[in-house]
Amino acid sequence: MKFDTPAGQNPIDQLKVVGKPTARVDGKLKTSGTAPYAYERHDVVANQAYGHMLGSAIAKGRITRMDTSAAKAAPGVLAIVTALDTPKVAKGRFNTASLFGGPKVEHYHQAIAVVVAESFEQARAAAAMIRVTYVKQPGRYDLAALAKSAKLVSASSDEGTAPPEVLRVGKFESAFAAAPVTVDATYTTPDESHAMMEPHATIAAWNGDKLTVWTSAQMVAWARSDLARTLRIKPENVRIDSPFIGGGFGAKLFVRADAVLAALGAKAAGRPVKLALSRPQIANNTVHRPATIQRIRLGATRDGTLTAIAHESTSGNLPGGSPETAQSQTRLLYAGANRLFALRLAELDLPEGNAMRAPGEAPGLMALEIAMDELAEKLGMDPVQLRIVNDTQVDPEKPDRPFSSRQLVECLRTGADKFGWSKRNARPASVRDGRFLVGMGMAAGFRNNLVVRSAARVRLDKDGVVTVETDMTDIGTGSYTVIAQTAAETMGVGLDRVKVMLGDSDFPASSGSGGQWGGNNSTAGVYAACMKLREAVATQLGFDASRAVFADGRVIAGDRSAALADAARDVALIAEDHIEYGDLDKQYQQSTFAGHFVEVGVDRFTGVTRVRRMLAVCAAGRILNPTTARSQVIGAMSMGVGAALMEELAVDTKRGFFVNHDLAGYEVPVHADIPHQDVIFLDETDNKSSPMKAKGVGELGLCGVAAAVANAIYNATGVRVREYPITLEKHLEKLPAVT
Ligand code: MOS
Repeated sequence: MKFDTPAGQNPIDQLKVVGKPTARVDGKLKTSGTAPYAYERHDVVANQAYGHMLGSAIAKGRITRMDTSAAKAAPGVLAIVTALDTPKVAKGRFNTASLFGGPKVEHYHQAIAVVVAESFEQARAAAAMIRVTYVKQPGRYDLAALAKSAKLVSASSDEGTAPPEVLRVGKFESAFAAAPVTVDATYTTPDESHAMMEPHATIAAWNGDKLTVWTSAQMVAWARSDLARTLRIKPENVRIDSPFIGGGFGAKLFVRADAVLAALGAKAAGRPVKLALSRPQIANNTVHRPATIQRIRLGATRDGTLTAIAHESTSGNLPGGSPETAQSQTRLLYAGANRLFALRLAELDLPEGNAMRAPGEAPGLMALEIAMDELAEKLGMDPVQLRIVNDTQVDPEKPDRPFSSRQLVECLRTGADKFGWSKRNARPASVRDGRFLVGMGMAAGFRNNLVVRSAARVRLDKDGVVTVETDMTDIGTGSYTVIAQTAAETMGVGLDRVKVMLGDSDFPASSGSGGQWGGNNSTAGVYAACMKLREAVATQLGFDASRAVFADGRVIAGDRSAALADAARDVALIAEDHIEYGDLDKQYQQSTFAGHFVEVGVDRFTGVTRVRRMLAVCAAGRILNPTTARSQVIGAMSMGVGAALMEELAVDTKRGFFVNHDLAGYEVPVHADIPHQDVIFLDETDNKSSPMKAKGVGELGLCGVAAAVANAIYNATGVRVREYPITLEKHLEKLPAVT
């Protein structure tokens, strides 16, 4: 099904099943501990041995010798594959560093050997017995020190061959110089780790040339093609199975070392191998969100109209890596005639930086939305009002290109009303509650909506059950549920008549889960397949498909009606289709919007910040399931609190690694850290986004939150901190005297 004109009325609009707050269809499996996660799939293949990764103990240099004699003689050891004795693996299309290093070492904890043994403990113990001789080379590990030498990279999303340049609209410098009220400030965000609950894990088994991996991957089709490329085998010889994923947050968008090492280990041992990365290996072996240094300049007239906007961001990465695109939302969020955007990239020898939890917008808004708060204060203007007066309904770089739907102003007004914003005292450090200084802060939320081809297969059986098969993944988001709702709605059956099978590369290739594109695109693909199945059903039963109504397990046209199941009485009906998109996302800017409101208390004596309550108001197209969408948004809001208050990978700038590489040292918020979270979804359908009229929502819940927390802290204390995370030592000395 090609989607190239805005959606008209269609079966989804019935909203008998879609749009309802349905509990997860996979909830029982999860709460009973029977949802199969990669490492626990004991039943899929017999005789599983255990693999353990050895990571490089240096960040940059060469391996000259690996002595495996003691490890080979250790109890239970079945096979050892090292960087020096195996043909070099290829680099995947989506990887920056090789997933199996050596002799060259590109980053700390890069995989250099895998040990396979009868038990996990034996494999781990033997891995520790491998003696590695390195020749160290000096590396570059300090972004702040290297920022000046960072090179300009293209700030435009229009991929082309043009040399990178600063992106300009109008004349920023003269407009900024002429502006009566300005902000010019630099903000920093640290390296961060995904810290999803389920570690990277894979069971790999070979059958001749054919490799099956049971793994934890957000993007099954990417995993298949990149694992094949890495191992230099044909993609059709690789099967990926990833039905349940214990969180990804971007860390599982791309194949990682667990899959490669399990496959190499299984080949060497002649047995299936399971391998998980231990928590302390993940931070340095895999990927992280790169740190940023962001300079923002805003110029406005006295009434708050923005006349000049500049956002320049510097980040680092391994050679060949990409920048954190922290300027992306600033290009679209506010009007303003004169604009400047620049992205700079420094080469670092730290582990690979890549997508994490709303890459681009999440760290970008951490800077921009503090700058807006600073501007509002200088103007003596309410921060909500400042954002409202600078709203735009068109792409500021291409004014003939409207937003497909944009309710930022409504989000902000609704949020201010529901949160009790009018009770905020604009004068900082003026509200106390016992030992706490209390403040309120807000920020706009913005995240783009991406459209991606997505395919599905649906089958109708003689018992009237509709089975959906697609390689779509459920990373904890609710994919099983919204896909079941889509199939039930389109086929006119109850949810109890729908079975959803996900995550298998034998199924048609879906959008996968990433960039908050999964929900809208994967359901649109299922809708396309179901519409095709309706045609097959109508033909079988002698109905005109365009007139037939599918409801209550029946097909009805005029005064004739038949049971849906009758169409499959003799043989199951199968339909396969995909959704593909025309250029509606070029004609219209498709984005999602939020207003984030936060109240904090900062301990007057210790400087510790406690979040007291949070509200997110989201406008993100049709909400397919308010329950699962809300769960995503409150999870995302918690991540925003993490970014604001605690999350930071500490860099050892001499040795080149992240020091706090476990969940004791790398802190993330827990439920008890945030007593109260509210989410409101504005009523919205977007007929340009897909036949579902939905958009992404998960990552929107995060974008802007950290700045709202930061602004609330400023309102509480009067101390402006521009370096995340806002830990107590950054403002303790400057807090108002305790009287
Ligand atoms: Mo997301 S960081 O694109 O999984």
